[in-house]
Amino acid sequence: MNAESLQELLETAKGARLKSIAPFSNFMVGAALKTEAGKVYIGSNIESASYGLTVCAERVAIWKALSEGERRFAELAIVADTETLTPPCGTCRQIIWEFAKNATIILGNLGGETEVVSIRELLPRAFDARFLKAAKEAADAAALKNS
Ligand code: THU
Repeated sequence: MNAESLQELLETAKGARLKSIAPFSNFMVGAALKTEAGKVYIGSNIESASYGLTVCAERVAIWKALSEGERRFAELAIVADTETLTPPCGTCRQIIWEFAKNATIILGNLGGETEVVSIRELLPRAFDARFLKAAKEAADAAALKNS
């Protein structure tokens, strides 16, 4: 990823941020997720009056891409208007780990500051489907024995 394409993806995330629906927090976030093939899916945070149903910008972008059949991601840019760059929340880290773990994560703010991070740094010792395998195999074996 060169500096120019990094900047371009950040600009796309900045534009996505303007589509945020955040009447409760007034905290607007934009995300831009680029596939390995170069297609970009944008997301903005969308808040619900129930608060808990709010979805972050990162997950909106990831769900959009996955539901279009995309599976391989190269970069994820995230932009918010904070002095200290806004990292993805815990829930989003889990989803990034499961569905976009190879994406380079680029954080940015409106002042032009940027930082590149990886999900491995943000979510060490992650839980995922690997941990479910043994329990599933044991249940399948027990079912077979009892059949
Ligand atoms: N939010 C995001 O969209 N992404 C983040 O990385 C952090 C938080 C949203 C969720 C909510 O709409 C608002 O920011 C305040 O938490």
